[in-house]
Amino acid sequence: VDPTLDLFEEIEKLKKEKNAVILAHYYQEPDIQDIADYIGDSLGLSQQAAKTDADIIVFAGVHFMAETAKILSPHKKVLLPDLNAGCSLADTCPADQFALFKQKYPDHTVIMYVNSTADIKAMSDIVCTSTNAVQIVESLPKDEKIIFGPDKNLGAYVAKKTGRDMVLWQGSCMVHEIFSLEKITKLKNRHPEAEFIAHPECEDAVLKLADYIGSTTGLLKYAINSPKKEFIVATESGIIHQMQKAAPDKVFIPAPPNNNCACNDCPHMKLNTLEKLYLCMKYELPEVKMDEELIKKAVKPIERMLEISA
Ligand code: 13P
Ligand code: SF4
Repeated sequence: VDPTLDLFEEIEKLKKEKNAVILAHYYQEPDIQDIADYIGDSLGLSQQAAKTDADIIVFAGVHFMAETAKILSPHKKVLLPDLNAGCSLADTCPADQFALFKQKYPDHTVIMYVNSTADIKAMSDIVCTSTNAVQIVESLPKDEKIIFGPDKNLGAYVAKKTGRDMVLWQGSCMVHEIFSLEKITKLKNRHPEAEFIAHPECEDAVLKLADYIGSTTGLLKYAINSPKKEFIVATESGIIHQMQKAAPDKVFIPAPPNNNCACNDCPHMKLNTLEKLYLCMKYELPEVKMDEELIKKAVKPIERMLEISA
């Protein structure tokens, strides 16, 4: 790409020319968040994908999110700046292994976190996100037997919150499991006034220290509305861009991971760049393509989720 090109201007032009909408997750790099038409968590992004009247959905996020957009708007062109933007959590739940697992619990309702492939969604009864997981579980009768997956940490958190005894698939997210309990404890000691807020994909030991637990949108709202001025944030650090924009006087400290990095990036989310976003809009590639039969099966549990959380 010509380095003299103003990519912001070019992307704005392409948006209008092609009637395209850019949906971005909070974990995208700040430039992408700034050019997006809508920034949100997995639930908000899927609601937007279902209702948009744009011809092209440019999904700045990871593959399962763009796939969900395609399932909800199958006649629209869905573009993903980098098709390799996967998800370590979705990868922990291969469809063949999950099919065998499910066979062991034939009388169970399957609730699957949206961070999973379309094949997994097609084997599920209801999809959920971190925003509505508790609500979705509670929408079922108390004695309903439930399989929950693929994230064991979110599953354990929801089981605790709802008092339901669920069978959990043992998957997890590399980004949320890498937080260092020791470093967080030290940081909390150094910042006694700070509130510690965490995403439910973090391990139980980390969640036990949290003043607030929630989805990315939940964390953002909490941080904006809390009277406190300082926050230690245990999720992917991209969300801090929106926190800082909404509350410029507050201090947001990314929770430290278990390595020598100061903050915690999702390597999959960060595969998308402004340059790739521009190229994918210009050439309308790469496009998310899906089998029609799979779409028909996978849309049912997603629609059930959207109905419950409407
Ligand atoms: P949210 O739905 O809370 O934004 O979570 C998405 C995700 O991938 C968390 O790692
Ligand atoms: Fe997947 Fe974790 Fe990245 Fe979210 S942060 S997209 S769960 S790897």
